[in-house]
Amino acid sequence: MALLDKHKVIETNATLLLVLSFLVVTIGGIVQIAPLFYLENTIEKVEGMRPYSPLELTGREIYVREGCYVCHSQMIRPMRDEVERYGHYSLAAESMYDHPFQWGSKRTGPDLARVGGRYSDEWHVDHLRNPQSVVPESVMPKYGFLENRMIEPTYVAELMSTHRLLGTPYTDEMIENAAADFTAQADADSDSDGLLARYPKAQVRNFDGQPGISEADALIAYLQMLGTLVDFSTFTPDASR
Ligand code: HEC
Repeated sequence: MALLDKHKVIETNATLLLVLSFLVVTIGGIVQIAPLFYLENTIEKVEGMRPYSPLELTGREIYVREGCYVCHSQMIRPMRDEVERYGHYSLAAESMYDHPFQWGSKRTGPDLARVGGRYSDEWHVDHLRNPQSVVPESVMPKYGFLENRMIEPTYVAELMSTHRLLGTPYTDEMIENAAADFTAQADADSDSDGLLARYPKAQVRNFDGQPGISEADALIAYLQMLGTLVDFSTFTPDASR
């Protein structure tokens, strides 16, 4: 009874109740939030994730410029139907080099987080030119003009420096070799050893099948990389967190 009586004092005094509630919430908040300031990184390190190659990064810029994210998400949620359709659910680390992130909130088209390797380059060329030619009921717009827009790696080093400013760990070596790596990735006959050492698993070939490097080359290089960096046959979630 005595305890209830003491509680009555609090419950009948609005100011005291407010002050004590505030105190409890503050302590709870500090306990939860303060440790985060001492962690360098709250994203689990995952083997295989690397910054995007100069060509992939350029393709990503085109993806953002064209507003592909308006219809496509890049985040597979940990629900059974999603995992069965798209593959392993997305890990935070898989978008750690995305500035801005491409999780998306709308799916007029399918999620693209793991579209890499699902179709051939030719399929992508046809699909970009005329989506209805491969998927008759598609409502996706045509992006055939991308293959007619030739691109040069003139500003790709600056683009990478900007991403470094935002936290992507591009090294000086990567930035120095940006233009050469950009060109090398679009040509299957190029000397791509340096490129592959800097960007493991980078796919090297003529993506749009035409001479010269077009915006379609960069975009397809980006799409074919999506979801291919982390090897999910060996991935085990870090249980220590
Ligand atoms: C107006 C909405 C819309 C926009 C904008 C859009 N798409 Fe699509 N996309 C779709 C729809 C719907 C589909 C499913 C039918 C199909 O395959 O065409 C699709 C399918 C795809 C697929 C095949 C995915 C799969 O798993 O089968 C790829 C790849 C793709 N889109 C890439 C892009 C890219 C790259 C852009 C930007 C240049 C883009 N889309 C812009 C609606 C859109």
